[in-house]
Amino acid sequence: MKLQPLLFLAFGLTAAAATISVEQNVAEVAHHRTTTTTTTTTSTSTSTKTTKTKSTTHSKTKTTTKVSKPTGTPCAGNKANKRSKWCEYDISTDYTEVVPDTGVTREYWLTLDDLTAAPDGFSRPVMAVNGSIPGPTIIADWGDWVIVHVTNNLHTSMNGTSIHWHGIRQNYTNDQDGVVSITQCPTAPGSTLTYKWRAVQYGSSWYHSHIGLQAWEGVFGGILINGPATANYDVDKGNLFLTDWSHQTVDELYSHAQTVGPPILDTGLLNGTNVYGNGSAATGERFTMKVDKGSSYRLRIVNSAVDTHWKFMIDNHTLTVISADFVPIKPFTTNYIDIGMGQRYDVIVTANQRRVGESFWMRAIPQEACSENASPDNIRGIMHYGKKAKEPTTSAWAFEDGCLDEPASNLVPYVPKTVSAADWSDMTDVTIGRNSANLFRWYLNSTTMQVFWEDPTLLQVFNNQTDYSESSGLIKLPNAHEWVYLMINTSIPVTHPIHLHGHDFFVLAQGSNPWDGGVNTNNPPRRDTAMLAGNGYLLIGFETDNPGAWLMHCHIGWHTDEGFALQFLEREREIDPLIDFDALQDNCASWNTYDATYNIDQEDSGI
Ligand code: C2O
Repeated sequence: MKLQPLLFLAFGLTAAAATISVEQNVAEVAHHRTTTTTTTTTSTSTSTKTTKTKSTTHSKTKTTTKVSKPTGTPCAGNKANKRSKWCEYDISTDYTEVVPDTGVTREYWLTLDDLTAAPDGFSRPVMAVNGSIPGPTIIADWGDWVIVHVTNNLHTSMNGTSIHWHGIRQNYTNDQDGVVSITQCPTAPGSTLTYKWRAVQYGSSWYHSHIGLQAWEGVFGGILINGPATANYDVDKGNLFLTDWSHQTVDELYSHAQTVGPPILDTGLLNGTNVYGNGSAATGERFTMKVDKGSSYRLRIVNSAVDTHWKFMIDNHTLTVISADFVPIKPFTTNYIDIGMGQRYDVIVTANQRRVGESFWMRAIPQEACSENASPDNIRGIMHYGKKAKEPTTSAWAFEDGCLDEPASNLVPYVPKTVSAADWSDMTDVTIGRNSANLFRWYLNSTTMQVFWEDPTLLQVFNNQTDYSESSGLIKLPNAHEWVYLMINTSIPVTHPIHLHGHDFFVLAQGSNPWDGGVNTNNPPRRDTAMLAGNGYLLIGFETDNPGAWLMHCHIGWHTDEGFALQFLEREREIDPLIDFDALQDNCASWNTYDATYNIDQEDSGI
């Protein structure tokens, strides 16, 4: 992921919001190019790939992106005081069985670019979707089909790409999951790949690049699927992204991560903006949110960090939590929530304070037990009553530092499910070692994942391959409708957010070692990302109801890149007819041509 130092501008941009005009950037690049005579190699990035041949002749032209305006209105009957209703459905409808037939297809166009941006006032190279960080939100109604055309314009950094729709079940559409080396080849610069999937769930999530560390250079955005809710609210404020951020790119920092350990990150952003530094030295702008006294607001909080576990709170206000990942839960009220990487919580905040004109801090607090940040107390936004935000003088709720999940007793799914006894079970240890180049590699199921961009699992399935390499971390689950239990255990004191593709899994047991043998099968928390405690265990269960190659990995960016992953090959015999082979092959062919031309090296796990 080497970024060209060429893009690194010496002069600072004043814009704090990370929305960059493509045209402006083109001008800057052009300006810079006229003063650059060589392609310097001062970057110290030991990136996940390096490019042996550099071409700087790509001329950047104005990019026009078309983003369709969602036309659908939330289903009739879904009113501020009746959020449980959804046309002829409601919040108790079992969405794992029933999907509204809306007949609607939403279409979006996303373009990835190498740009320069200053989200906290400090200018650096970024990668962005449609010129902004976060990128545009994909909005649909429960039951809609969604088509997204993803164009890779990362000519300068010469990066392939793929976009993963985090948490979207991809029910029988595994080939749309957007994971390089698993479901597709990288999409080459200059190419477009079209994804199509159905919103069989509803709630909040995000899409992000699923190659190397690209997501954390800025390639991510929101997914918002309208549906019923377990509590009422007046206004939907959409996604609130909590991102950690540094003045060096994550590709530059990866070298430190691989050799020394997780680097200290400079700061964090709320929806792509924040202030950096204090007093008169401060740069950038705070995220602000205006509220009206007496109204209630839904916030869809996403942890989009590379390596930060957050506590999120709003001073003097409680949060009513209504869903965990894509699973609606019985509402609970709390002063703050714990949110691990990849997780989402939808919360309702009621503007119930008395004084008009007051402002309150919204705080994203990196938990020091597992996150290294140089500005732990300065990642804040402002919620303000009335027109103008002023500097709040409010204080944080008291909390204890820690990186665990919300207790299971809080995360009770609204649509209850019981889990059957295991038909298949396994136990896997999480360990760490160094490879022959003395770089950290994480091990799961006795292997560190090493898969290859040009040979994704689905291509191997299509070619009727029956043997998979040891380092592909592949576990076969051949039988339909079996219950799979996987115990993940670690004796290392590092927490990990464990994410599974293609399923909402059940959290059957979770805690610090030793495990007491208890298994909660009676409507346990259900979600797509859960915390494995340091020196702890996480027992997950799911049903083999979705044929495909599904990745399971730690959502800490460094760890994914360092091989902390395995894949389930679920119902292998049924996968072949589900693959759009022409699309898969065309995309691989253009990648292979690009690779052959520019000689791209892959130096990471491949995912
Ligand atoms: Cu959010 Cu495998 O990803």
